[in-house]
Amino acid sequence: MKGIVFTEFLDLVEEKFGLEMVDRIISSSELESEGVYTSVGTYSFSEMLQLLQHLSENTGISIDNLLLVYAEHFFSVIEKSYPGLLATYKDPIEMISSIENHIHVEVRKIYPDAELPTFEVIEKTENSLIMDYTSSRAMHHFGLGLMNKTFEHFNATATIELEKIKEDGTQVRFIIHKN
Ligand code: HEM
Repeated sequence: MKGIVFTEFLDLVEEKFGLEMVDRIISSSELESEGVYTSVGTYSFSEMLQLLQHLSENTGISIDNLLLVYAEHFFSVIEKSYPGLLATYKDPIEMISSIENHIHVEVRKIYPDAELPTFEVIEKTENSLIMDYTSSRAMHHFGLGLMNKTFEHFNATATIELEKIKEDGTQVRFIIHKN
């Protein structure tokens, strides 16, 4: 997992819960990196999982909700860092249905070792999209947060339902209706 995902995460934890919480979740985890991340480095996903687990235990917020809020923050990082990529799109359904064939293809050119999910478009109309998420990392709520913000970016709203195809969340169907 890319360092930028860790540095932005710890910045948000500090902003919401304070530096003490950052120290607490780092020191209660077993981290090969020792909790020192650079935005261009690459680190094990198990480190993110431990940080999330300890933050969840300390705050009582579920891992899914932490990932949702984190993704909403991460979208603003994307807006700042990759404005050209977003400017290619004028419609949220077009953008979300292009993650697999365009957006994450470009991400992989920047970060060849990125660990990305796969999204398969099942059905697409002008105002709706059904798409299946697959990833061993089960970060579907990170995807949900990015999708919410994608609609907001285009001054639109949507109803997004998640249906687990696999109980462990490694495969999830997104059913999206633009309002
Ligand atoms: C992961 C970039 C849009 C879904 C990532 C990662 C980056 C990235 C850098 C981390 C890879 C790693 O840690 O190795 C971008 C950029 C986007 C974009 C630049 C837009 C210009 C989206 C959108 C979605 C999405 C709109 C929503 C469906 C995900 C998910 C992950 C991810 C769910 C977590 C990895 C996993 O589940 O396996 N993306 N992304 N991305 N992205 Fe994107």
